[in-house]
Amino acid sequence: MATESTRPLRSAQWYRGNERNSYLHRAWMRRGTPGDAFDRPQIAIANTASDLTPCNSHLSEVAASVKNGIYEAGGIPLELPVVSLGEPLLRPTAMLWRNMAAMATEEMLRANPIDGVVLLGGCDKTIPSLLMAAGSVDLPAVVVPGGPMLNGTFRGEPLGCGTHVWRLSEEVRAGTMSQDDFVASESAMIRSRGHCNTMGTASTMALVAEALGVVIPGVAGTPAPDSRLLQAAHASGRLAVEMVAADRRPSTFLTKGSFANAIVALAAIGGSTNAVVHLLAIAGRLGIELTLDDFDRLGSEVPVLVDLLPAGRFLMEDFHRAGGLRAVLGEVRDLLDPDALTVTGTPLVDHLDDAPIWDPEVIRLRRTPLLAHGGIAVLRGNLAPDGALIKPAAASPDLLRHRGRAVVFDSIEDLRARLDDPELDVDPDSVLVLRGCGPQGYPGMPEVANIPIPKKLLEQGVRDMVRICDGRMSGTAYGTVVLHVSPEAAAGGPLALVRTGDVINLDVTARRIDVELSDEQLAERRPSATTTAGFAQPKRGWERLYIDHVMQADTGADLDFLVGSSGSEVGRESH
Ligand code: FES
Repeated sequence: MATESTRPLRSAQWYRGNERNSYLHRAWMRRGTPGDAFDRPQIAIANTASDLTPCNSHLSEVAASVKNGIYEAGGIPLELPVVSLGEPLLRPTAMLWRNMAAMATEEMLRANPIDGVVLLGGCDKTIPSLLMAAGSVDLPAVVVPGGPMLNGTFRGEPLGCGTHVWRLSEEVRAGTMSQDDFVASESAMIRSRGHCNTMGTASTMALVAEALGVVIPGVAGTPAPDSRLLQAAHASGRLAVEMVAADRRPSTFLTKGSFANAIVALAAIGGSTNAVVHLLAIAGRLGIELTLDDFDRLGSEVPVLVDLLPAGRFLMEDFHRAGGLRAVLGEVRDLLDPDALTVTGTPLVDHLDDAPIWDPEVIRLRRTPLLAHGGIAVLRGNLAPDGALIKPAAASPDLLRHRGRAVVFDSIEDLRARLDDPELDVDPDSVLVLRGCGPQGYPGMPEVANIPIPKKLLEQGVRDMVRICDGRMSGTAYGTVVLHVSPEAAAGGPLALVRTGDVINLDVTARRIDVELSDEQLAERRPSATTTAGFAQPKRGWERLYIDHVMQADTGADLDFLVGSSGSEVGRESH
């Protein structure tokens, strides 16, 4: 059963005809495929499975179900292993390679006889990089999120992957938990296949991708070991063939309204701040004008309805049981763009009927939210002229307006060396500043903005302080953290000019972050500014290319020459 499309397939430019090159292409690909294989849509399965990305290691099983769906609908499945980025292991940070992974996937899709693609991702950077690639190559594409792991428990208490690493390590530092107990909790945290089970970046990006319209509605958040994930994978394979027939490419159905829906979803689920840089980068690939301010404008009045760690109590398995994203979106349906379409060809809102909340403790009703206003606040001021973020839901309410003395660290190494020094001049009102952690400065913008509380304050019972950084924060972390400060210190941002003892003002209601220094005082300090903390700059390779071309966080931290789309035009023949 071939596609009903009357449009010639892109892959026909490799396979049609009887001349030498078509022969060559077909002969190499005739490995037990059906006789009419080359008249059918060729569907890639861009698979980020890897033993070094444990969150995605089950995706080859998912790919097998996708393949069945593709065959069933008349397509030819072609597994395409792509760059896989595993958050737990990659040094210096997986974010350094998000753009590289996106570029490699984009180029491999374009260079091969591919008509459509099913994107298999899970761990934090994998779905963003796949979507950036799909935006730039603009082939019909559907995402199958790999799904979260099952709930972990330790001594009868739920253990949230990621979040509890921060909490338990703070307890060890505070002397309220033994090292043996800490190690014992390790094997209780990761109980099954799948990505982090908190509302961290992986869960957030899967759900936000569904709200954006690139996942079959109702699929994101299905736990990795759940048989319904394989059912969804099968359906996604079938859908990819249908999308080729309909020529349903990202540029034909993703709009500013799709991103508005993603932002509303991000706020309602209390999702990770990392979604901001990823959505900005994906929009950039599609030529959709999305700004930092759109996140504040569209998201900050949206109530947080999901009571998940790190801001709340439950985990993703509970979220799925309680009704999942469709139940959440059903509560804020009036805030969604009714025209924004999905991979199915129908609007997102059409998929929200019959989506009950089964457990109102986990997914709250609109009238009883976890927080009346969620989202991500965008701050500006003389410390962040191009913007900085704070997630009020993860912050301490009494610190959202705060004035305190800066304690400045020039790098993560400087922080580690001095933070727990009993002589460190710090008190609970101090504002901890960490710089040199932006896209250029680290390089790669690592998740270090949730600076640990100095040990001597931890021992006094302090559990949160105002912290400011030009880096990112893990979606599984929490605290009153001002992050993604743009421009970063290494790019000449004023964060490079702050000195220990300066007074910093945070006012989230007014959306301000300032240091109490005049423009003249800041200008006087510029010649002696700390920007690279004395680290050797890479001379070659990806890091060199990255530093020379990476943009700042307020525009998505993509490489400047990767913004936009090159489409799927077939390249020249070399044989
Ligand atoms: Fe992969 Fe958390 S480490 S999602």
